[in-house]
Amino acid sequence: MEHTDTAEPTRRDFLYIATGAVGAVGAGALAWPFIHQMNPDASALALASIEVDVSAVEVGQSITVTWRGKPVFIRQRTENEIAEATAVPIADLPDPFARNANLEDNAEATDANRATVGHEAWLVMVGVCTHLGCVPLGEAGDFGGWFCPCHGSHYDTAGRIRRGPAPENMLVPPFQFSDDDTIVIG
Ligand code: FES
Repeated sequence: MEHTDTAEPTRRDFLYIATGAVGAVGAGALAWPFIHQMNPDASALALASIEVDVSAVEVGQSITVTWRGKPVFIRQRTENEIAEATAVPIADLPDPFARNANLEDNAEATDANRATVGHEAWLVMVGVCTHLGCVPLGEAGDFGGWFCPCHGSHYDTAGRIRRGPAPENMLVPPFQFSDDDTIVIG
């Protein structure tokens, strides 16, 4: 499928390759279990928590890191992306729950509840489609967030499912900022 991969690799793609999931970028999206099998670093998979230096991630940029064998998307969102997500009524969301491990189970899927107090621009979430587990593509889809081409799920700029078969918003894992440049996940 080389003909679909003509764009210059983005910074996100590069960092994604660096995690060891070679092959995922050219194909667009593969089922995560397949990628998982290709990752030889079992000791890294076993780590309960990771510390991520995000000082180089500028507004509008994303990186993907691996936590407990899964990709985690970290994005510093633009003002527009936050405004768009904030403007959406909860009633318009297929999944009205925040799916944020740092909040109560019944917390509403507001934009603020998808982020964290004091660092509202940052979105940290497990980059696995809640339909059947593909890895969605960033800055794509009808809502400017993420798009899962496996069966056509569109996520918005807060990582909330907006259209397609995925039943839930992408999961926000347990995380906190230990300082302004460091996120601890897990
Ligand atoms: S796995 Fe993402 S839409 Fe089916």
